[in-house]
Amino acid sequence: MTRRTTFGLGIAVVLGLLCGGVPMWRALHPPPVESARAAALDTIPALVPEVTPSAWLTAHFAAPIAAQGPAPAGWAPVEASVKASDCSGCHVEQVAAWRTSRHAAAMGPGLTGQALEDRAGQCDRCHAPLAEQAGTTPLTAEGVTCAACHVRGWARSGPPRREGVAAVENAPHGGFTEVADFADPAFCGTCHDFSANATPVAGKRLQETTEEWRRTPAAAAGKTCQTCHLPDRAHTFAGVHDAELVRSAFTAEAKFITDGGLIVGRLRVTATDAVGHRLPTYTTAELWLTVDQLDRDGLLLDGTHQEAVIGRRLSPDNREELFDTRLFPGETHDLAYTADLEPECSALLARVEVRPEAAYERHYADWIDAEKGDVAALGKALEAAKAARFVAWQERVVLPE
Ligand code: HEC
Ligand code: HEC
Ligand code: HEC
Ligand code: HEC
Ligand code: HEC
Repeated sequence: MTRRTTFGLGIAVVLGLLCGGVPMWRALHPPPVESARAAALDTIPALVPEVTPSAWLTAHFAAPIAAQGPAPAGWAPVEASVKASDCSGCHVEQVAAWRTSRHAAAMGPGLTGQALEDRAGQCDRCHAPLAEQAGTTPLTAEGVTCAACHVRGWARSGPPRREGVAAVENAPHGGFTEVADFADPAFCGTCHDFSANATPVAGKRLQETTEEWRRTPAAAAGKTCQTCHLPDRAHTFAGVHDAELVRSAFTAEAKFITDGGLIVGRLRVTATDAVGHRLPTYTTAELWLTVDQLDRDGLLLDGTHQEAVIGRRLSPDNREELFDTRLFPGETHDLAYTADLEPECSALLARVEVRPEAAYERHYADWIDAEKGDVAALGKALEAAKAARFVAWQERVVLPE
């Protein structure tokens, strides 16, 4: 498919092992071409009031979440269980959708394979928050499971009943309490925002999604995290791994002219109002803008490849910001392309490739090299992270004769 040779990871890995140290990391993962730094949020006006968790939410997500304790007398085994598979007989839709979500994958090999000194203290509160998930139990593997959001002391809570839906008499698990906070962005902020006093890097926290949200047209229009990520209360929690959702988040336009022996042009990506925070919001995902020249057979021509990255890249210890090209709705990022026109060139291929776990691809590779953690698990995680990449947009631009 390609005549282009890529810088082999294997070679890079060997070099990395030989030389070691932080400067070598730069050789392993060559310095990005980007230099932009998105502004700190306190310089951008907020459009809606601050998101603060209610007393109910603070108590609901108090870490650690207390063990459920003994189940009420007379409950059937499926009621007296916090396992997703036991909710599924009655909540078929939610369980089926949730299984496809990242929440269900939150205790995957990328987490469990890491050499962690204090998983219980540092990770479980967001990745496996129930007391029943401590250590390694069958429930641990369920990650952010149903009960993490809905069950405390065996009692169920959920959003208010839909209009026109009557209460079920003698409902299983003692019915439920209607709580308006399920529709509040603060509900998600519990795990999707690092606390306000976490040390910022270049004036920005590692996760500040709800604060970003307050500065978007979507927030001003009354759209919450739930509007976009639980549409009609669906539990897929689609995010940057979902091609359809990501395609709604940007538009792309490629334009080129030939000028003597040169091709000059750009691939421009603009974030749309369909995204309710920066595109992308975390340091994990990256969008890769690429342009290649194609020969008459549609093959990529050697030495013509150029790329730019939309994302926020940090050093491996997360202490230094290398670049931040993330986009608020309406903002654009360009790959400016200037190259010699290859004699065999008949068209250009412009693409936007999404790498949902770009930062972890680098972390996993580094840890595998250093034999840090469970190398087999990290190998699986690396494979899955690469398999998650997808092309969100592409266009073949034929050159004018
Ligand atoms: C035997 C069937 C059954 C099982 C098992 C069951 N539920 Fe329910 N659940 C119901 C019914 C019926 C209702 C509706 C009660 C009502 O409307 O008063 C309900 C209501 C709920 C609600 C409130 C929905 C809303 O409209 O806000 C939540 C949340 C919930 N259940 C979570 C769970 C979870 C989590 C589990 C598994 C750990 C589970 N349930 C297991 C039957 C069940
Ligand atoms: C404050 C909540 C929070 C804490 C604490 C936390 N995480 Fe996360 N983690 C998240 C969220 C939210 C995401 C999703 C980010 C994304 O998709 O970019 C995530 C994503 C990840 C991923 C990437 C999963 C993937 O493949 O997409 C890994 C691995 C991970 N976390 C490991 C850890 C480890 C290890 C710890 C403990 C040292 C930890 N996390 C602590 C909230 C947290
Ligand atoms: C990360 C938190 C989270 C997890 C995990 C989660 N839910 Fe929910 N659930 C919510 C929120 C938030 C809502 C309300 C969404 C809204 O108001 O738009 C909700 C709504 C519901 C409802 C009401 C649905 C309706 O159509 O009225 C049910 C039932 C429910 N969840 C059951 C479950 C079950 C069963 C699981 C596990 C498969 C689960 N939830 C996992 C957060 C969660
Ligand atoms: C108990 C903690 C917790 C709560 C509460 C929570 N999340 Fe998450 N969420 C996570 C973790 C951890 C991940 C990353 C899982 C992974 O990839 O390993 C995640 C992942 C996601 C993703 C997928 C990101 C991707 O990479 O594609 C979306 C979307 C998401 N959450 C939305 C929400 C929304 C919306 C809410 C509020 C209704 C919410 N979450 C509440 C912990 C939580
Ligand atoms: C107007 C719709 C909209 C709103 C509101 C919104 N999101 Fe998103 N979200 C998106 C789209 C589209 C994507 C996919 C593009 C991307 O990754 O930014 C996304 C992606 C994500 C991801 C994937 C990880 C990443 O780095 O992008 C997470 C996690 C997430 N959203 C959480 C949230 C949370 C938490 C809120 C509320 C504070 C929220 N979203 C509000 C539309 C929205």
